[in-house]
Amino acid sequence: MDNNPRNSWYDQRLSLEQGHFLSAPDGPFRKRKWASLDPALKLFEQVLRLSGLHGRGVNNAKNVSLKPITFQLPNLPAAFDGYRILQISDPHLDLLPDLSERIVSLLGGISVDLLLLTGDYRDRHDAAPETGLAILRPVLAAVDAPDGKIAILGNHDPAAAVPILEDMGLRVLLNQTIAIQRCGESLHLTSLDDVHSFYTDAAHRALQETVEGCRIAAVHSAEVADLAAAAGIDLYLCGHTHGGQIRLPWGGPPVRNLRRCRDYSHGQWRHGAMQGYTSNGAGVATIPIRYNCPAEVALITLRRPG
Ligand SMILES: [Fe+2]
Repeated sequence: MDNNPRNSWYDQRLSLEQGHFLSAPDGPFRKRKWASLDPALKLFEQVLRLSGLHGRGVNNAKNVSLKPITFQLPNLPAAFDGYRILQISDPHLDLLPDLSERIVSLLGGISVDLLLLTGDYRDRHDAAPETGLAILRPVLAAVDAPDGKIAILGNHDPAAAVPILEDMGLRVLLNQTIAIQRCGESLHLTSLDDVHSFYTDAAHRALQETVEGCRIAAVHSAEVADLAAAAGIDLYLCGHTHGGQIRLPWGGPPVRNLRRCRDYSHGQWRHGAMQGYTSNGAGVATIPIRYNCPAEVALITLRRPG
């Protein structure tokens, strides 16, 4: 009998990647044929080019900035007051490789406590597992993070990306909780595999584990925010939506790409006692453009209230 949870995770993940159905918290769904959208996307890009908006959209997409955010967490141990997490989400580096250089110059030797990568390192679902990952290497080198550089997988990331990410010095966490220690106190981090397309009971079990004290969840998408809040998570960090990537000047994003918890498509939010943040992401999906939705790397500071 195989007792290594990583092996059973891998078998389950691979069967979803290779089958006709994917899995969300509300059940399985048939895979989309992305190629069938190609003509519509090409037409949309052509319309943008003819209207003169395409170049502006590409420039917007390349203009990544550092977004500082502070969370006051009532359960935060005193030793973690001021703790800094740098969250890089959704770089999709094969679609806009120039982004790597831009992110490196933006971060320029930044020192934080923890680097957290919340998935989608490549864009093309049919590309080789290593696609985009080499471009991530200089970004990792630009960040000093004594408590570690942690990665979870997004819906664009295959199981085969895990050993490649680990070779780059990242600690890949899949449906498990780790404790970060400081002066005898602990901060717990529960990190899930992607729940948008690769949800399994192991993700729910990891949330429901009994953990005492302050607890952060790192999940690619907001789609299990309600389950995390019920499990007593204090702070939920995610990405996936790119904040919509294209937002109308007079309203929210027309496309949210969330099957559940759809109110949490961007920015800071709250579900019951749990606080959450959905990063706009550093990169872009499908078309390398952004409008009214700036690309970001989030610099999160944890504070005790008062
Ligand atoms: Fe993404």
